[in-house]
Amino acid sequence: MAYETILVEQHDRVGLIRLNRPKALNALNGQLIGELNAALDAFEQDRGIGCVVLTGSEKAFAAGADIKEMQAFTYPATYLDDFITSWERLSRARKPVIAAVAGFALGGGCELAMMCDFILAADTAKFGQPEIKLGVMPGAGGTQRLTRFVGKSKAMEMCLTGRLMDAAEAERVGLVSRVVPAAELVDEAMKVAAAIAGMSATVAMQTKESVNRSYETTLAEGIRFERRVFQAQFALADQKEGMSAFIEKRPAKFEH
Ligand code: HXC
Repeated sequence: MAYETILVEQHDRVGLIRLNRPKALNALNGQLIGELNAALDAFEQDRGIGCVVLTGSEKAFAAGADIKEMQAFTYPATYLDDFITSWERLSRARKPVIAAVAGFALGGGCELAMMCDFILAADTAKFGQPEIKLGVMPGAGGTQRLTRFVGKSKAMEMCLTGRLMDAAEAERVGLVSRVVPAAELVDEAMKVAAAIAGMSATVAMQTKESVNRSYETTLAEGIRFERRVFQAQFALADQKEGMSAFIEKRPAKFEH
């Protein structure tokens, strides 16, 4: 499929999606979200893909929803057409997705990054939910996910003032898993993704599902979910292979 607002590549078992509206700092319009969703659908259906990397440019992961497109939206149309639902596709991905963020990740851009499974940041990354300066609040999960990432005090301050958080602060407070030099960001994300894609595909996806459970349920229910899935993994050939490979001191060869 030919895309106009994203660039899509495949490197062995890793799918790479680059947001690509350079003149608008990758502002997220309806076309881009549609194309992103189509690319995700294709990667999810492809057994040859084990992990996806989502990135932007050196200057911007994404500077938010496209303000020029949103400016004319009305309340009834926003409610009836429910455009935000289409943004949620990424949060329902079953395969692991890594956000590789350099430059601005603002508003919907920060929200998109937080829908991924973890965020690798360049030292140039800047995160923020500046919607309040536009007369609205975050609308694609920002008030909820940012609060879970960084706690109430910082999330509240960021959402109420629109101030940006740099990469060092983002790492300190747990919004990102690691910070790397900007020039190495995509290579490092691809390396991490390749390692994940080399694991048992079933176990990687179940691990993602189980970690995500911790956001959605009580500790006791989450532990119960984990226990059931862990027990079931002893029915996988990959469990036999992984443990045999360790004992035989050789690399494991997992099923995909
Ligand atoms: C549309 C945008 C844009 C955006 C930047 N541009 N952000 N266009 N929507 N969100 C465009 C600018 O209009 C400009 O194009 C070009 O990109 C370069 O931007 P500049 O402002 O000239 O660059 P710079 O001076 O470097 O400033 C960078 C910036 C600033 C600090 C990131 O662009 C900015 O504040 N952008 C808006 C950030 C924001 O408020 N995001 C939240 C959006 S609301 P032209 O052609 O005009 O020169 C949101 C709600 C999500 O995300 C809700 C979920 C559905």
